[in-house]
Amino acid sequence: MTGGGPATLDGAQVPHQVRRGEIVLEHASRSFSVRADPGRTLKEVIFRRQASHAGPAPVPALDDVTLRVAPGDTLGIVGRNGAGKSSTLRVLAGIIPLDSGAVACGGQVVSLLEVGAGFGRDFSGRENIYLNGALHGLNREQIDARLPAIVDFSELGEFIEAPVKTYSSGMFVRLGFAIAAHLDADILLIDEVLAVGDEAFQRKCLAHIERRIEAGTTLVLVSHDPSLVSRTCQRVVVLEAGRVAHDGPSAEALSFYHRLMGTPEPEPVAP
Ligand SMILES: Nc1ncnc2c1ncn2[C@@H]1O[C@H](COP(=O)(O)OP(=O)(O)O)[C@@H](O)[C@H]1O
Ligand SMILES: [Mg+2]
Repeated sequence: MTGGGPATLDGAQVPHQVRRGEIVLEHASRSFSVRADPGRTLKEVIFRRQASHAGPAPVPALDDVTLRVAPGDTLGIVGRNGAGKSSTLRVLAGIIPLDSGAVACGGQVVSLLEVGAGFGRDFSGRENIYLNGALHGLNREQIDARLPAIVDFSELGEFIEAPVKTYSSGMFVRLGFAIAAHLDADILLIDEVLAVGDEAFQRKCLAHIERRIEAGTTLVLVSHDPSLVSRTCQRVVVLEAGRVAHDGPSAEALSFYHRLMGTPEPEPVAP
């Protein structure tokens, strides 16, 4: 089962209803005012206040991004730090609103963004499975039925009863992925988190992602690992300063990315 029909986020001028698994971003923009640095001394704070009356200029995280992803497509997003990759996923997940433009995602959106995001820290792993399941529209019986598989996938054993605030980042990722893997995503959004787990768990996650792709789930994967992106995604968007610098088939887009970053292009390897 999945979480209802096409859903639009942000209500704004979405040009049309999206299909299940479809993603539309139209002229999407979002800026942030630079965060106050908690490390500054009082003197610096006072000095800075006197120096700039206007406050810090907003930094564009997404700057007029237009992107359409068809149901079942696999899209990688790459770009240097601060290019807007995580912000793009957060916009798609409905976590941050746009300043202007429109976003729409069709069907059940399941996201794995920051490590530990979306967990109630005082609740146990098991309780968080129920919490997350409910947030994705599953009822108690449906979660009961999936619980053994989720716990098994997580490999957390008896730690499933411990409050998640005692978890290591690796344990968070195990639980997060185990839950996400059992939510019947129409759209799966993954930001870097896979890099946190150990290699065996990563392989298991990748095998799972491949099964989801075969089942028609739309994937959007942010990763610093070009070989992971080229293995998993048919299409890649290169972001630079919040804008789409390149959008095309993976091989071509990744060579653009390597030229942009000044990194050597790896020899093509057989899959
Ligand atoms: N919550 C936030 N508050 C302030 N600035 C933010 C916030 N989120 C992102 N930014 C800024 O937006 C830009 C894009 O960030 P991000 O999307 O995290 O980039 P990436 O994931 O590609 O490294 C950066 O300049 C970052 O500092
Ligand atoms: Mg990021």
